[in-house]
Amino acid sequence: MELRTSPIIAVCNQKGGVGKTTTAINLAQALVLQDLNILLIDLDPQGNTTCGFGIKLESIQTSVADLIRDRDLLVDKAIYKGDRLDIIPATPYLARVEREMVGMTNSELRLMRKLDGVRERYSIIIIDTPPTFGPLMNAALNTAQHLIVPVDSFFSLIGIKELLAEVEEIKQGTNLGLKILGFLMTMVDPTNISHETRNNLLANFGSQVFETRIRRSVKLREAPVFGKTIFHHAPESAGAQDYWSLATEVLDRLGIGEDATKPSAIQTARPSLTLVQEACHE
Ligand SMILES: Nc1ncnc2c1ncn2[C@@H]1O[C@H](COP(=O)(O)OP(=O)(O)O)[C@@H](O)[C@H]1O
Ligand SMILES: [Mg+2]
Repeated sequence: MELRTSPIIAVCNQKGGVGKTTTAINLAQALVLQDLNILLIDLDPQGNTTCGFGIKLESIQTSVADLIRDRDLLVDKAIYKGDRLDIIPATPYLARVEREMVGMTNSELRLMRKLDGVRERYSIIIIDTPPTFGPLMNAALNTAQHLIVPVDSFFSLIGIKELLAEVEEIKQGTNLGLKILGFLMTMVDPTNISHETRNNLLANFGSQVFETRIRRSVKLREAPVFGKTIFHHAPESAGAQDYWSLATEVLDRLGIGEDATKPSAIQTARPSLTLVQEACHE
């Protein structure tokens, strides 16, 4: 088992608007605040994860799309460095490259192979994925060993089963070790719908459902508008607490970082991103 060599987690659900990007960004930041080095990869042509850190899409010279397209491009060229949180960004150009991927040999394996060179630098690599099945989702499922599946209150079991069927297919083909790390309830509010959703999820997936629930919160919605994580925007909000708790649970499930639980660290969380805002590569 390769758990000690930077596990790769993809945040995945083919439904849009369920909190994938919010989870990728804030889980990554919470893990950094729990003393890990993280690489976050934006694999959605909408570039919401990239923008969520205040990076201007127009300023990006080399993105994940170039890594996939150009066999010889070194992965470091596409890594934008922050303070223990590095990003491989995405821009709308990725949509064009996704269409080209259909005709490229082993295009779904390219990202995974490119990451080989940097895996030992990071404690965990996190991938944000697009809201559609297609070559990019395929690349994510071939690169990750673990999936976090965010689920909102209006989740459809049929949709989840479709995703699980896809995962099964990948496991039988190119990525034997792929596993669900957990189903994550997002946008939880005190309504009966949220309650029923949880019961429904538990009935179907039992202990695979994370205990942490991400509550619906205006602060979580606002943060990306300011190009900030929740830990910078509202470090004492419910959203920060929830993503902190998720990070702890994720580390627990991965079997790493057992001594990292210091709830007080939320208060002392330094804005650790001297991030890449200018994204100025030579
Ligand atoms: N827990 C939450 N509470 C309130 N708004 C949220 C929450 N999680 C996400 N959002 C907002 O919902 C929208 C969709 O979330 P996003 O993370 O972009 O989903 P996805 O990446 O799955 O499309 C965004 O505007 C985001 O800010
Ligand atoms: Mg998204």
